[in-house]
Amino acid sequence: MIVPGSSSQAVAAELATEIDEPLAEVEYRRFADGELLVEVPPQDGRAIVVAATGSSDAHIQLLQLQDAVREAGADEVLTVIPYMGYARQDRAFESGQPVTARAMAKAIGSGTDRVLTVSPHEPAIREFFPVPCEMLDAAGRLAEPLPADLTDPIFLAPDRGAIDLAKTVRDAYGTGETDAFEKHRDRETGAVEITPATLDVAGRDLVVVDDIIATGRTMSAAIDALGEEPARVFVGAVHPLLVDGALAKLANAGVKAVYGTDTIERSVSEVSVAPVIADLLQD
Ligand code: R5P
Repeated sequence: MIVPGSSSQAVAAELATEIDEPLAEVEYRRFADGELLVEVPPQDGRAIVVAATGSSDAHIQLLQLQDAVREAGADEVLTVIPYMGYARQDRAFESGQPVTARAMAKAIGSGTDRVLTVSPHEPAIREFFPVPCEMLDAAGRLAEPLPADLTDPIFLAPDRGAIDLAKTVRDAYGTGETDAFEKHRDRETGAVEITPATLDVAGRDLVVVDDIIATGRTMSAAIDALGEEPARVFVGAVHPLLVDGALAKLANAGVKAVYGTDTIERSVSEVSVAPVIADLLQD
C-alpha cells in the first residue's frame, strides 16, 4: 500500500496508479501545542511511504508514518522522498555547524528498509543512510511541458554543478546546445553573483535548468547576467520550492514560463516524477 505524507498526496496518487497499488487515506492531525500525529489504515506486507521533507514538520511526519505503518502491520517499509529537505547541508560549512543531511538520513534510515529519493542536490548524501538508498534522476521530465517549437534552443545551467541537468533536459527534448554560468553565492547575505555563459543567446530560446528554485535569486541573477536579448526564457526545476517571492523575481527577470515537477506540489508542478519512481520499483 502507498502511504502518503500530507504534502505529497498528488505524487503518491500518481504512483499508486502507475504501479497499481492501493493508496492509503491517512489522517493528519495537530495537537493544540503544535505536535503532529498521523493515523494510517491497517497494513499488510510492504508499505511504501511517500513523503517529501520540505519542512521540519514534514520530517517529523515522515518518521511518524514509518513508525505507524510498522505498528499497523507492515513487514517491509520502503521510503520514497520526492524532495529531501536539508540535503544542501551536506557538510559543515563552518566549524561548529552540523552535517544536517547526515543527521536527517540517520533518522529516516532507522525506520525503513530502503530509501528512494529524487534528484538530490548532492548524490553523495546516499552514503549517509544506514540502509540502501537509490537516487533517481527526474530532470528529463522537465522537457515534457516545453513548447515543441523552441527556436535554436540553449539549455543553460546557472552554475557548473547543474550542467548535467541541462544536458539531461536537452537530451529529453531532443535538440539544442548546452552551456553553464559561473556562480558565486555570498554565504552571509545570500546574494548571488553570476558570470555569463559564453554562447551567443541573441534571438534564441533559452531554457534555464536547475535542481531547486528556492528564493529564485540564482535563476534571476543568471538571466539578468545575459548580455544579449534571448527570444524567450523558460525556467525548469525538479524541485520548485519557490519561497520568498521567487515567482515575482522570475517574472521581473523576463521569464515566460516556469516549470517544475510534483516532488514539491506547487502551481508550477506541471509534470509528475511518479513514472520515474514506478520504473525503478518495477525493475
Ligand atoms: C544550489 O546550488 C542549488 O543548485 C540551487 O541553485 C539553489 O538552491 C537555488 O536557490 P535560490 O533559488 O535561492 O537561488
